[in-house]
Amino acid sequence: MNSYQYSNNVLHFDGVALPTLAQEYGTPLYVYSETALTTAFQSYEQAFAANQPLICYAVKANGNLNVLKHFAALGAGFDIVSGGELQRVLAAGGDASKVIFSGVGKSIDEIQLALQVGVKCFNVESLPELDRINAVAAELGMTAPISLRINPDVDAQTHPYISTGLKENKFGIAFVDAMGAYRHAAALPNLRIVGIDCHIGSQLIDLSPLAEALERLLVLVDQLAAEGIVLQHIDIGGGVGIVYNDEAQPDLQAYADTVARLLAGRPQHLVMEPGRSLVGNAGVLLTQVEFVKVGESKNFVIVDAAMNDLMRPALYQAYHAIAEVAPHADVPAVLADVVGPICETGDFLAKDRELAVVAGDLLAVKSAGAYAASMASNYNTRTRAAEVMVKAGAHRLIRRRETLSDLWKDEIL
Ligand code: LLP
Repeated sequence: MNSYQYSNNVLHFDGVALPTLAQEYGTPLYVYSETALTTAFQSYEQAFAANQPLICYAVKANGNLNVLKHFAALGAGFDIVSGGELQRVLAAGGDASKVIFSGVGKSIDEIQLALQVGVKCFNVESLPELDRINAVAAELGMTAPISLRINPDVDAQTHPYISTGLKENKFGIAFVDAMGAYRHAAALPNLRIVGIDCHIGSQLIDLSPLAEALERLLVLVDQLAAEGIVLQHIDIGGGVGIVYNDEAQPDLQAYADTVARLLAGRPQHLVMEPGRSLVGNAGVLLTQVEFVKVGESKNFVIVDAAMNDLMRPALYQAYHAIAEVAPHADVPAVLADVVGPICETGDFLAKDRELAVVAGDLLAVKSAGAYAASMASNYNTRTRAAEVMVKAGAHRLIRRRETLSDLWKDEIL
């Protein structure tokens, strides 16, 4: 779905004129389209209809309570990686029994909380973690539902920082160690084995590595069944990549068909953990131009958003499309880097873009629904931006802009 539309030469997002939002809420501002969230969620439901999956939205992509509440209402479960994310899901009215708890370093406190509220399962990433969960469960007189995250050693062909399924990555239990780890789990009295999972990386455009990873998991599922360990679910990990620039749109239906074919005739329930593809293109970061600085060898469009609001370009050299909100016919375009006010050379949102802008103009940084607000920081004592939800022409504030006193309220003078 395309949520963007120019009407009277002004960019609208889900029916709302972006200048209206800048005026009412200020900039920088994250804007999310509820319609686009719904569409993205339903496209997974439709593509995977044959398997009736539990779609566990990966909270890390965008944890705003309103986003979580909306997905909960659509029937989503949640993939969490911390006690904090678990509390967010509960605060948003999410159902603990649809929560899967991923991550390599779960603390004792986090495990206790997850057991007490009754999460669906722990995705376990190492033998010591199995022992820890067993011990915490024993202390509480409970049995912990567990799944093992297997590292299938498949190259996801994505940016090295967001690739997770290779031998050299810190994630998961090595494929060759998997059977031993399951036997270890089966021998621990306070664990109940319920599943298997993997997650090989994020922003996957070529989906064949996902199918390859699932094929590898199924080898283990069969070996386990032969030993009498019959799993209840198979979790295929994160979702597909999204279009930021000129990537080919990943074929969700083709992927779903492959999954359906591979799982045909198996008793296991399908679980998945998409994040980016449910929210990424449902969000935009609205920013205002402070100055246009014409340099000796480079031009700079200096805006009021920075790497603390959108870290992806600085961290992964990620590309985000940038649109002029009210394009001028009479201003010459310049080739410029779009940069923030932060004192770092790495503080850029875009490199070498043709823009026809003057100070005071608004720019829309696209695909900012995922891993933007959730990765924001206060570097340079910058308050985190406000968040707004729009839906078919209406808008509401879903997170107020931080105030400066918020920033130092915990400091002790
Ligand atoms: N499940 C697990 C265990 C994960 O680690 C992740 C993402 C997901 C699911 C969701 O994957 P997705 O559907 O979003 O691809 N900050 C980076 C992305 C880091 C992804 C970390 N794990 C970025 O901005 O590109």
